[in-house]
Amino acid sequence: MTSERSSNLNRREFIRSSGAAVAAAAIAGTAATTPAEPRRERLALVGTGGRGSTMWGRNLLQDCGDVVEIVGLCDINAKRALASQKFIGINAPTFVDFDQMIGATKPDRVVVATMDSTHAQYIIRAMELGYDVITEKPLGTDEEQCQSILDAEKRLGKKVTVTFNARHIEGAKRIKQFALDKTLGDIISVNFHKYLSTDHGASYFRRWHRLRENSGSLLITEGCHTLDQVNWWLDSVPVEVEAHGTLRVYGRNNSFRSSHCRVCPYKDRCQFYWDITRSAFDMKLYAECESEDGYLRDGCVWKEDTNIYDSMSVIVRYENNASLTYTLDAFLPFEGDEVIINGTKGRIDWNSYAGGDYRREDLRLTRTFGKSELITDLPKPLAGGHGGADPSMHNLLFRQAGAPDPLGSLAGTRAATYASLIGIGAYRSIDRGGQVVKLRDLVAV
Ligand SMILES: NC(=O)c1ccc[n+]([C@@H]2O[C@H](COP(=O)([O-])OP(=O)(O)OC[C@H]3O[C@@H](n4cnc5c(N)ncnc54)[C@H](O)[C@@H]3O)[C@@H](O)[C@H]2O)c1
Repeated sequence: MTSERSSNLNRREFIRSSGAAVAAAAIAGTAATTPAEPRRERLALVGTGGRGSTMWGRNLLQDCGDVVEIVGLCDINAKRALASQKFIGINAPTFVDFDQMIGATKPDRVVVATMDSTHAQYIIRAMELGYDVITEKPLGTDEEQCQSILDAEKRLGKKVTVTFNARHIEGAKRIKQFALDKTLGDIISVNFHKYLSTDHGASYFRRWHRLRENSGSLLITEGCHTLDQVNWWLDSVPVEVEAHGTLRVYGRNNSFRSSHCRVCPYKDRCQFYWDITRSAFDMKLYAECESEDGYLRDGCVWKEDTNIYDSMSVIVRYENNASLTYTLDAFLPFEGDEVIINGTKGRIDWNSYAGGDYRREDLRLTRTFGKSELITDLPKPLAGGHGGADPSMHNLLFRQAGAPDPLGSLAGTRAATYASLIGIGAYRSIDRGGQVVKLRDLVAV
């Protein structure tokens, strides 16, 4: 999250002050000092928490402020909407009522960045009011939400774009290119192991994500990134899932607990103690808004009602007979991904780890009966959140809107449903003691 908040190059200022802008104005026969302002796309944002205020707020305007503007901010927490307005540095009006925001601001498109289980209601309402939607992942956290969105999109003829930024990571893009080029022949199996650290992993157990009714569990709120990536690489449809999940570290697995870190009597003993007062951003956006909704951003990781898992293993079978073995553990000393893709003509190994002294990032292609090579010519990522994936997504959505997208880096509701559906199938399988769940029984995609 820290990198999301870091300041990017202000492209608007750059373009305005560059020789290119002056030359363009001269060619157009206008004075360089009064360039014509192109019409900017008007966005209304619902959900002004961390992601809304950064990715869809301040960072978006830094990346694309010359082509988009934010005309309204809405959140169930009125104070947070105001704090967000201030953080982003705009005067757009704030609302707690979504319909009022839409009626008053008449945007071009709606952006949804609320808590996961509330996406569906805003996506559908925006379409009913006549708008296309950009939504944060996941599309939905259960079968009914996904089905209602798919049905509404068809019925209302509107378009929903789901922002899977993990498709925009340079390594992921190169793997997609290898898949399109059939470099590995037919892909038979994928092993994807996801490791979340005691920082990132624990952050889910401090907040609303710790309840399945809010997040659909980590299999959805976090897993949908990975599962969408694999579906995208394989270009096939997942058909059945079996899974195992357990909660072994967080939640009830401790002898002491409190409501949240600031008031905790065990600060000195708890290795998960997190001092929110050290972050001005978190204090303003969350702590100073608690009076409205009681949302504790530094909630205790040991809450006994936590009903998601911190260790999960999932096996997925695809329509093209490929299989995926996916694991997610959320309590580890360092963060990382370990991805192995096995095909009839070779194998890809993609590792990225970061934590403490340990850093590793490599993509390797090994051809069967052939050479093994490290891929060293990946483009340098853009400056910005999630290793440059966030600004890359901004560009594709706004600056290069309508431009060719040869890798298919923008996802719609069908792909997003399959990403959620594997997680939904997996938690249904865990509920049923590891039974195989057939995904077409859950949602008609
Ligand atoms: N793509 C990514 O890399 C990425 C990263 C972080 C978060 N996200 C997604 O962004 C979304 C927001 O996450 P966040 O980290 O900002 O969480 P957050 O808790 O900081 O913000 C969520 C906001 O939603 C608001 N909210 C909750 N229920 C609401 C309702 N019914 N109506 C209106 N507003 C409501 C809350 O008040 C809060 O301001 C989530 O869907 C999350 O999965 C995506």
